[in-house]
Amino acid sequence: MQNTTKQTDQQYVAGTYGRFDVALSSASGATYVDEAGKTYIDLGTGIGVTAFGAGDPEWVAAVTAQLTTLVHTSNLYYTAPQAELAKLLCEKTGMKKVFYGNSGAEANECALKVARRYGEATGRTTIVTLWNSFHGRTIATLAATGQDKFHAHFGPFPEGFRHIHANDEAELTAALTSGKVCAILMEMVQGEGGVIPLDKSYVQLAEKLCRENDVLLMIDEVQTGNGRTGSLYAYQQFGVTPDVVTTAKGLGGGLPIGACLMGEKVEFTLGKGDHGSTYGGNPVCAAAALNVISRMDEALFEGVKARAAYIRSELEGAEGVETVTGMGLMIGILPTKHTAGEIAAACLADGLLVLTAHEKVRLLPPLNIPMEQLKQGITILKKHLA
Ligand SMILES: Cc1ncc(COP(=O)(O)O)c(C=O)c1O
Repeated sequence: MQNTTKQTDQQYVAGTYGRFDVALSSASGATYVDEAGKTYIDLGTGIGVTAFGAGDPEWVAAVTAQLTTLVHTSNLYYTAPQAELAKLLCEKTGMKKVFYGNSGAEANECALKVARRYGEATGRTTIVTLWNSFHGRTIATLAATGQDKFHAHFGPFPEGFRHIHANDEAELTAALTSGKVCAILMEMVQGEGGVIPLDKSYVQLAEKLCRENDVLLMIDEVQTGNGRTGSLYAYQQFGVTPDVVTTAKGLGGGLPIGACLMGEKVEFTLGKGDHGSTYGGNPVCAAAALNVISRMDEALFEGVKARAAYIRSELEGAEGVETVTGMGLMIGILPTKHTAGEIAAACLADGLLVLTAHEKVRLLPPLNIPMEQLKQGITILKKHLA
């Protein structure tokens, strides 16, 4: 059975992904099952998506209720889930308006358009991003992404992007005072870049320079957002107020939705006809996200922090571990004895799903993973790190 899926996939699905040698067929909570009936503990959540695990009953009930009521209409009409979700996101963040897309890349595309439209009046078109960042796979978000390995073969890229080094305050100051910049876009923890948090002082300096130079502070919370780091959005732990926040992944908890949140400065920057998406804010996906966001509270964040503290206490100083980085339940482990790829493959064979990011093993477990299952998972991981 498993072979059939693999063979059919390899014949007909575009070969853009390096897949593990397993076909997953069902899941519940943090337990996944493959076509041969083998079970796995999931510490990857489909790359930060299934925030409350797979098939969470409350989430399923919210999605099912919407599915049997109104699945889709166009954005030519109002729908309640979209409106309610935007209201909740704004109430919880202080942002003023929300644009919906279907993915992280699309959320960032919107942010890039906000930046260009904002800079239009003063003739400033440059968008600053960081080396080692990741902002998506569309041509514009690839241009924003500061990793050359993603750029090869796909140029030419749109103009007006400048990359600077994370945590280099002199370079940041030079870029943001150049008079050419309309916005800076950055992740609070570079996820795909190896789970590396920015320095708080650097982020706060960026905010100060943005205010002084009329530059938009735009934060990519696609991976860090929606409770992942122990707060609704990671920027809230850096003591800054962004002008634009983008998010996706965990927002829908398993259904595709992305959002670009706009603050006071840019709440009217995009007007009628400036942007759009057929599926953006689809009622079912919006109902899914409404369920996720309505459950983001202090108790959940405390649970995230407690699980993160447990993982760190087990892994810091453990055999085969150089460093443990990240924030909350977004964790990078630099191994010393094996490559991250070897460890991920060994864990898979042993019934554990983990991710990698550059040279690190990366964990993005369900925010509410039962402690017992987490302990089992970490025990397996430690065995293969050593
Ligand atoms: C920080 C960040 N931004 C954007 C993206 C792109 O999101 P998507 O794959 O949903 O387009 C990702 C995906 O990993 C991400 O980690």
